[in-house]
Amino acid sequence: MDLKLTKKSVVITGGASNIGRAIALKLAEEGAYITVGDIDIHTADQVVRLAVDKGAAGAQTVHTDVTVTTSVENLFAQAKAIYGKVDIFINSVGWDKPMPFIETDPELWQQIVQLNFFSLLNGCKTALEYMVPNLGGAIIAISSEASRQGEPNEAIYSSMKAATNSLMKTLARENGRYHIRCNAVCPGLTFPEEGTMSSSSMWLENAHMVADGKLEQSARKLPLRKLGRAEDIANTVVFLASDKCAGHITGQAVSVSGGYSMMG
Ligand SMILES: NC(=O)c1ccc[n+]([C@@H]2O[C@H](COP(=O)([O-])OP(=O)(O)OC[C@H]3O[C@@H](n4cnc5c(N)ncnc54)[C@H](O)[C@@H]3O)[C@@H](O)[C@H]2O)c1
Repeated sequence: MDLKLTKKSVVITGGASNIGRAIALKLAEEGAYITVGDIDIHTADQVVRLAVDKGAAGAQTVHTDVTVTTSVENLFAQAKAIYGKVDIFINSVGWDKPMPFIETDPELWQQIVQLNFFSLLNGCKTALEYMVPNLGGAIIAISSEASRQGEPNEAIYSSMKAATNSLMKTLARENGRYHIRCNAVCPGLTFPEEGTMSSSSMWLENAHMVADGKLEQSARKLPLRKLGRAEDIANTVVFLASDKCAGHITGQAVSVSGGYSMMG
């Protein structure tokens, strides 16, 4: 099926690693223009080369620190300069260092808020400045199942992901009149496949979370009895990005987690 994503101009943050990488490559297969904003420019460059091989209409990297407003503004300006417009924004950067809340400190709170929420505010505000005058667009924030029910050892992260879902709903209400759709996707545990991590991936520090058979244990607890792959998340993002598939879907938080949480 033609998803009508050919030559759509996509800006994606965190596209060098795991989930963001899979999203960039999946949209490349649909013939989109891809602009990857990531702090790890070396790995992002490799993803962009792969994106071109997979059929992207064009692909570029822009060295970006999503916590710095001017850096995010530059990312979008580069997408507009090279591809003439911004049709789709995907926010995939996120970060956590799990531990009981009582052991956390304000420095860690700052880091988690900056990387999961302030960064999203930077991206959404800038994306809308391009999309509103064009009377169209799609914003997709990668949230988490932690947003749904709270996750032990992830108090601030869970809160920021709940804020992510809420922001998408508010932006959906404010901007539907401009034909801009805003949705969140909530992955469950999605461990990177070999060779798909950037040098700033949170998994480099958090690999112990999935050591000693913990991945298999987690899979056994899910209704579908298997963990998600980055590609599962990417397929859902592509669906939501496509006006043809999801033209009447906005303000939603969609779980892609093998049934870890069930809302409704
Ligand atoms: N993987 C999972 O199990 C899982 C589960 C639920 C939700 N999520 C969410 O999905 C998203 C992607 O997760 P992932 O597993 O792909 O993460 P990851 O850590 O592997 O990738 C994050 C990317 O962001 C980049 N990055 C880090 N700091 C940056 C900065 N300041 N500026 C620009 N880029 C920066 C990294 O280089 C990397 O490419 C995140 O929002 C995460 O919270 C992941």
